[in-house]
Amino acid sequence: MEKQYLIAIDGPVGAGKSTVAKITAKKLNIIYVDTGAMYRAVGLYVTRKGLDTKKSEDVNSVLNEINLDVKLSNEGQMIFLNGEDVTKLIRTPEISMAASNVSAIPEVRVKLVDMQRKLAETKSVIMDGRDIGTVVLPNATTKIYLNAELDERADRRYKELIKKGQDVTFEDVKADIVKRDTNDMSRAVSPLKKADDAIELDTTGLTLEEVVDKVIDIINGR
Ligand code: DC
Repeated sequence: MEKQYLIAIDGPVGAGKSTVAKITAKKLNIIYVDTGAMYRAVGLYVTRKGLDTKKSEDVNSVLNEINLDVKLSNEGQMIFLNGEDVTKLIRTPEISMAASNVSAIPEVRVKLVDMQRKLAETKSVIMDGRDIGTVVLPNATTKIYLNAELDERADRRYKELIKKGQDVTFEDVKADIVKRDTNDMSRAVSPLKKADDAIELDTTGLTLEEVVDKVIDIINGR
């Protein structure tokens, strides 16, 4: 049997996790799993229902109605919410915050972590999120904690949103990042933190190619 890669990439908003993971997956010809998309889809559903994404009673009252399907490939991931393709719809600042809110609710995490583990059961994957190295794949073959200075993360996220045609300001994007990271790092269950055995990579000032090269070096134990 070929070697199974289980690569965990965690880190705060805008550190470059998904872009780097996508390219690395292609280079290694393995599957990329974007776990944030699952929290976003739950956030979208709860928001559409007009419920409060911060209230566990609200969120838990509809959790059973939510059926998620992810279509995996090394080209990127598609996500379906009760059969509807919501891959693009979940990429707004409103749904980013909704995802962060619902992700603090233990029942939501139990449901999604279970799905995520199943996705990695028999395949080689590179998975990004907040708790992959600490909770989802504690036995990952490589754990990386990607980080970068706040202004650079805000700048990357701002440019990404502008490119998608969204009407945002740099200051708003930066404030949203701080709020979301604080939320994600301070929640009681599986907060964002570097796993003890993860390698921290600061991407400030590095090009995408440089980051990918470093990630591949880490994966190959160089
Ligand atoms: O990676 P992302 O920005 O798409 O994730 C959206 C939110 O989902 C993030 O603010 C926190 C939550 N999340 C999480 O709690 N655990 C994960 N493994 C992935 C995302």
